[in-house]
This record gives sequence, C-alpha cells and structure tokens, in this order.
Amino acid sequence: MTTSLPSESIRNEFDLKPYLESRRAIVDSALLNYLHGSRRNDAEILAAMTYSIQAGGKRLRPILCMAAAHALGGSEAEALPVGCALEMIHTYSLIHDDLPAMDDDDVRRGKPTSHRAFSEATAILAGDALLTCAFQCLADHALQQPPQQNGQWLKIIALIASAAGQDGMIEGQMRDIAAEGNELALDELEQLHLLKTGALISAAIESGAILGHADAEAYRSLKEYGRCIGLAFQVADDILNEVGNPEIMGKAVGTDRLHRKNTYPALLGLSAARQKAADLVNRALRSLEIFDTKSDPLRAIARYVIERRR
Ligand code: IPE
Ligand code: IPE
Ligand code: MG
Ligand code: MG
Repeated sequence: MTTSLPSESIRNEFDLKPYLESRRAIVDSALLNYLHGSRRNDAEILAAMTYSIQAGGKRLRPILCMAAAHALGGSEAEALPVGCALEMIHTYSLIHDDLPAMDDDDVRRGKPTSHRAFSEATAILAGDALLTCAFQCLADHALQQPPQQNGQWLKIIALIASAAGQDGMIEGQMRDIAAEGNELALDELEQLHLLKTGALISAAIESGAILGHADAEAYRSLKEYGRCIGLAFQVADDILNEVGNPEIMGKAVGTDRLHRKNTYPALLGLSAARQKAADLVNRALRSLEIFDTKSDPLRAIARYVIERRR
C-alpha cells in the first residue's frame, strides 16, 4: 500500500528502519528468554507458544511502548517487560483469530497457523497460555521493583487487562464476528476497529506514558496519538487485505471480502479508506506537537503504520 500523507511538511529525518530492526531484535530475544527462562523445555505447549512467538511479527506494540516511555525521557529497558507482555497477548489474539471458528486462516507470519502446525486444541491452549504468561511476566517483573512503584505497576496491569478483555479487544472480536455479512454504519465500524485493534495499541502507548511519568497534558496527548494510530493501523490492515502482497505480508489477502467482513475499503472504497488513514496519522502527528525530538520515533512510526507493506 502506498498511502502518501497529504502533509509532507511534517516529515522528519528520523531513520526508522534501523530503529525498528534494533528494537525488534531486543524484543525477540527478551521474549524467548522469558518463555524459556526456568521452564521445562520439552513441553508440547511451550513448543506451540514458541512457534507463534518466533514466527516473527513487527513487534509494533512493544516498540510503541518503549518509544512512548522514551518520548518522555523514560527508559526503554524498563518498558521491555511490558512490551513482552503486550506481544504475548497480541500473539495469542492472532492464534485465536486464525482458528476455524474465527477467521479460519491457514497462514500467519509467513508460516502455517498454529492450528495447522499443531492441532486445534493445542492452538487454543497455546493462546490461553500466552495470555496467562503475559500477566505472569508483568506480575513477576512488578514484584522485583521497589514497593513505592507498586501503584504504577498495578495501574499498568489493570490498563492492559482492560484493553485485552471484554471492554477492549475481546468485545471488538465479538463485534467483528457478529457483523460478518451485515453492513455496519461507519461509526459502528470505527468503534469495532478501535476495540479489536486500537485498544491494545493504545494500551501499549499509555503504559509507556505511565512508565515515563507523563503529566496530565502529556498523557492526554499520547492517548490521542494512540487512539489515532490504533484506528489507522486497522484501516491499513483492511486496505492491505484488499491490495497487499501475501508473500510480503505473510498472511492471506482477499479474505475479508470472502467472509463479508466490515472493513473501511468495503464501506468507503479504497481511496476514501486511504484518505481516512492519512487523516488519522496527521491527527496523531499533531498530538505530538508538545513533545521534543525524543518523540521522533513515535512520529516516524505513525507514518509507517499506513505506509507499511506488511
Ligand atoms: C495484525 O497485527 C492483526 C491486527 C491487529 C491488525 P500486526 O500487523 O501487528 O501483526 P504482526 O505482529 O506484525 O504479525
Ligand atoms: C485481528 O484482526 C484482530 C485481533 C487479532 C484482535 P483481523 O482478523 O482483521 O487481522 P488479520 O488480518 O487476520 O491479521
Ligand atoms: Mg479477525
Ligand atoms: Mg483475521
């Protein structure tokens, strides 16, 4: 997809590619360390969990969490365990999203989906285990911090639980499945996308904001940024499902149309969907105006969200 932003003037010189590559490598190795840490390495369930985690993925949610903390002068390293938890939740959601009872997909992250590589039962359990592991990772880490940080860590855990659960991603997935075949109104589709995809992306940024000790204004601005790019991310996913290259994306295309899913291109057409994504990114960029150059990674990621090809 080549959605170009109308506002070229807000481009900056930040070199995103090496930034993303280096952070992705850090997240990849932290995730594997965490999964294999002190556990029995021969368990089938661990093999299934590792299979999906190791299949790759852009690691955008962890990177956003680290970038948000950094934008406020906080530490990326401190955000890493939160990022790992977010990525485990995201990976579980993909495993379950691909199940025959959900989107029934055969390829994910360039490899056979979990239920294809293992069994359906193992895929369900691998998802359950990754979700549980995420909260264990957060709690284990919180327990190692000084007691005066307990409040901050509980806030992060509550925020992520709310975003992943029935007030966030799960409700979005319910609506996505329930609406197959019936056309939603635009505002209903926006709500659906904000829940199914936006909630976890927003939680990534807001938890980074908490770690960076954001004041009220900074928190509000980052929250707005998260809302905009979370929605833009799913609009871009919808567009890629229509016009993307499955080889590059590592997943099938054309499936939304096949399942009569509600998507931005289906509802608005491709060109208006692209414009909507670009408008959202411009809004996200405006919300960062109060920050200094430490937020350049966030700016570059906002553009990447809709320019990406995978
Ligand atoms: C895909 O997410 C599913 C959505 C929420 C749209 P990503 O595009 O972030 O998938 P990975 O992690 O890179 O595989
Ligand atoms: C995935 O949405 C959202 C979650 C997994 C919560 P989609 O079903 O639209 O994403 P892809 O296209 O399968 O990655
Ligand atoms: Mg789905
Ligand atoms: Mg899907």
